[in-house]
Formats: sequence, C-alpha cells, structure tokens
Amino acid sequence: MSVVPLEYLLSRRSTKFLKSPGPDESQLAQILQTAMSAPDHGRLQPWRFALIREESIVRLGDMAISAIKAEGLPLTPEKEANTRRWLEELPLLIAIACKIDHNNTKIPEHERMLAVGCAVMNMLNAAHMLGYGAFWSTGLGTYVDEVSEILGFDTLEYRFMGYLAIGTPIRDLGPAQRPDFTQFVKEWTGTRSI
Ligand SMILES: Cc1cc2nc3c(=O)[nH]c(=O)nc-3n(C[C@H](O)[C@H](O)[C@H](O)COP(=O)(O)O)c2cc1C
Repeated sequence: MSVVPLEYLLSRRSTKFLKSPGPDESQLAQILQTAMSAPDHGRLQPWRFALIREESIVRLGDMAISAIKAEGLPLTPEKEANTRRWLEELPLLIAIACKIDHNNTKIPEHERMLAVGCAVMNMLNAAHMLGYGAFWSTGLGTYVDEVSEILGFDTLEYRFMGYLAIGTPIRDLGPAQRPDFTQFVKEWTGTRSI
C-alpha cells in the first residue's frame, strides 16, 4: 500500500473561487470513489450526489435564485450578482444529500449526516491531492425545499446538505493559518470532570 504524505492533509484549504479546468472524468471518478471509504454506521451508505457541470450550473443558479426569492428570503441585487459571477466560472458542482431511510430507527439521523460529512471530507482531500481547489457551500438555497426538489432530492426522503465546488483556484491563497490543536484537547485521567 502506498503511503500518502500527511502534508496533503495539513496543506488542504478550501477555495471558493474556482475556474476550469475541473477534474477530468477519471479524476472525478477517483474523487467520488473516496466518498465510499467514509465511516458509515450500519453500512447505510446514506450519501447521494448529483453532478452539475458547466451550463447546468448556470441553469441551477437561475432556478435556485428564483426559488430563494419565491420563499421571500433576503437576497440583495449585489449578492445575487456575486452569486451568478461565482457560478459562471465554476466547472463542477456536486450537490450533496443524505438519504434518511425512515424505516431504520437504530442509527440516528445525525449519524447518517455525519457519514455524509465524512464522505465530503474525503472528496475535499482527494480534490486537493489531485491538485484542485474545492469548497463546500450551504448557500444557493440549500435550505429551500424547492431547490432540493429541483435537484431530485425529495425532502421527505433526503436532507439536502449543500454543494461541493471543484475546480482550479482563480487565485493562490497561500497556506491557511490553523490553530494549534492543543487548545482543543485535554487529558482525561479517569475521574469525573464536572
Ligand atoms: C457543512 C458546511 C457548509 C458550509 N457552507 C459554507 C457557506 O455556505 N459559505 C461559506 O462561506 N462557507 C461555508 N463553509 C465553510 C467553507 O467550506 C470552508 O470550510 C471555510 O471557508 C474554511 O476553509 P477551510 O476548509 O480551508 O478551513 C461550510 C463548511 C461546511 C463544513
């Protein structure tokens, strides 16, 4: 088994503004396959993805913006224009959903959503390892039911969890500043803390 340098994980940073080229078909297949290695309680395989490419991204933008306005959510002309500009440049969006499976009462819903989150994390890392930038967004009407339905994720059966954009970074952001892990970790030594 080949060993991936830890440096890949440490150097990943999200990049929102992306342009073509995005991953080719074989790279995209590799990225999506990494989602299948996510930890998954009960092997429910709750992750679902819809691939949205190039002109379809612009069409989704039109439909999502209409749905956001129909819902009466605030959207300034400036924000709308920025969103459209962002979408116009993107080569690839992957819509992310979690299948709920109401018949399975053993594994709580949040664990399924965590499994999907882990799947997306694998894809973020895979995109980075292949030299692409990527960004997970819960904008563009993620919490508007109509947008979920437009994408084919019936809101009774699925939780729509946003979009993963993948492409070539428009600007090199340089390394991200990360906190020192020690701020978030304590030693627990076997006695009740609180
Ligand atoms: C579930 C989820 C949804 C997110 N949605 C947004 C979003 O809508 N807009 C945004 O600016 N950042 C969003 N972020 C944060 C970015 O994807 C990214 O993590 C953040 O800019 C920090 O960059 P980093 O991943 O390099 O630390 C989201 C992150 C997660 C995990």
